[in-house]
Parts: sequence; structure tokens; C-alpha cells
Amino acid sequence: MKVQECVLSEDVIAADSAEAALWHAIVVPEAIKERLRNQTLLSLLVRPDLPFAMTALHGLCTLYGPPGTGKTTLARGLPAQVAGYVPGGEVRRIEINPHGLMSAEHGQSQRRVSELLGEYVPGLAADGMPTVVILDEVESMAVARSAASLAANPADVHRATDAVLTALDLNAIEHPHLFFVATSNFTTALDEAFLSRSDAAILIPLPEIEALREILASTLLALADKYPALEELAHSSAMTFIAEAAHGLDGRRTRKVVFEALAQRLNTVLDPGCLTREDLTTAVRNAVAENGRLEVSDAAH
Ligand SMILES: Nc1ncnc2c1ncn2[C@@H]1O[C@H](COP(=O)(O)OP(=O)(O)O)[C@@H](O)[C@H]1O
Ligand SMILES: [Mg+2]
Repeated sequence: MKVQECVLSEDVIAADSAEAALWHAIVVPEAIKERLRNQTLLSLLVRPDLPFAMTALHGLCTLYGPPGTGKTTLARGLPAQVAGYVPGGEVRRIEINPHGLMSAEHGQSQRRVSELLGEYVPGLAADGMPTVVILDEVESMAVARSAASLAANPADVHRATDAVLTALDLNAIEHPHLFFVATSNFTTALDEAFLSRSDAAILIPLPEIEALREILASTLLALADKYPALEELAHSSAMTFIAEAAHGLDGRRTRKVVFEALAQRLNTVLDPGCLTREDLTTAVRNAVAENGRLEVSDAAH
């Protein structure tokens, strides 16, 4: 696998781009979005004019938390949120999937990480345009060395982690127009040296009851464009009760549960407008029960 293949996409994004919808689709406390936006902007605006030794900023933010809480989506939506404030009004977004980097071949991982982060990515952003680089599910690249000691090929993982850290250090000094956003579904296995280089490590939590209500309602309202009868359910007081029943579900599952509710009866498949609060409650209860079973079986392993 070539390092180019780890770059999923490369786009130039303006403030008024349709990409802004990604950010708004994620329901998290406003303070979380503000912190991510401000940290990114501060880094893109201030770092280019100051020596690294004075700021000690690496231009790296880590979003961590349970799967399905909106980390990747927030990272993807971020460029449209900051584009309006940077000179030129545009921000480049480069998305990287590091999974392919951990080559089975001994000694290859380190070389690939250095090539990707140290050469290829800076090359894509050589015009100096403010650039957000997304390192999605970075744990595959920056696993804790302690955990790695149990792995089959620990020396290689160590070297690859070192290569990530070295590349981040070099980029911090040489390419202050790059801002890295790493996402991780857990932190216990993230390398401490990696976390300490993060200018901000932001926890994206499971949704609270009010957020669950908003996620369910917005999913119903999106369907209501085509099936207007769903608007009433979306605004009904039953939604609070249903959201309470959904406690423990992540954001992704909460959106999907609306479709699971529709799939329960042929009637609602053929006419989604006739979905009832009982349909939705049943689907939510089933999803929560399944969630509980998964947790029990995880704990048993
Ligand atoms: N907090 C949330 N609010 C609303 N929708 C969410 C939320 N979290 C996840 N979703 C839904 O799940 C999808 C996948 O989320 P994603 O960003 O991939 O999560 P993660 O990267 O944390 O696993 C999103 O596109 C969105 O539809
Ligand atoms: Mg993700």
C-alpha cells in the first residue's frame, strides 16, 4: 500500500460551503464546539508569526471518547467553521486513515509514517493555505508503548509511534499552517507523549437526555420533509420520555434507531408517516437492551 492511499480526501473548503451542515448535525454541548473551533483558529492565526519555542504549540488537537459520538464528523465539519476567519477565506482539509500504515512487513510502518506525515502531507499543503489534517482513529498509529509491548511486533510499533511524534515535532516548527485533528475511540491506549503534544484533548461524551431528544427529533424532522406527518411526533412531549429510555445510546445508534423503528412493521416501511411513539419506544428499548448485552459480553472477554 502506498502512502497516498492513506489520504482519503483532499478538499478546499470555504466558509459558506455545504460542509457546514456536518458540524450542525452533531449535538454536543456548545462549549465543546467552541473550544475545538477556537483552538484551531488560534493555532492557524497565531502560530505562523511566533517561533515554536515561544508558543510550544504543536498544532494538534485530539478528540476522544466512545465510538459513534460525532468525533469524525466534527473534525470533517471544522474547516467550514474556521474558513471565514482566516486570510483568503478558505481552508484545505486533508483526511487520513492511518489504518493502512501499520504494515505487516517488519520495519515498514515507521518509514511510511515519516513519508506520509513528514513529506507527502506537507507537500499537499505547500501553497501555505491554512490546512486541517484529520488523523482519524489515530490509536492505530499512536498506540501506547506499554500496550504495544504485548503486541506481536512491538519494536515496529514503537518505531512507528516515534515516527508520528517526530513528524509532528518537525511539522510544528516548519509548517505552522498545518493543524492536526486526531480522533480516537479510546485514550487509555493512546501514547502519553502523543497526548502531551496535543494543545487540547477534548472528550466527546455520550449524549445526555436533552441531546438524545434533539438527535431523535432532528432525524424525524429530516424525514418529515417527505413524510410531513412525522413532524407532530418530532415535536410531541412523548419525545422526552423516549429520550430518557434511550439513555446510554451513542449518537450514531440514536439516529439509526428511528430507521429500526420504521423497519419493525411493513406499514411503516411503506408509509413512514404512520410511525407512532409506541413504535419508536419499542425500537429504543430494544437498542438499549442490545447495548447492555454487548457491554456484558465485552466485560466477559
Ligand atoms: N452527538 C451526535 N449528535 C448527532 N448525531 C450524531 C452524534 N454522534 C454521532 N452522530 C451520528 O452518527 C454519525 C457517525 O458519527 P461519527 O462522527 O462517525 O462518530 P465517531 O467518529 O465518534 O465514531 C454522524 O454522521 C451522525 O449522523
Ligand atoms: Mg470516527
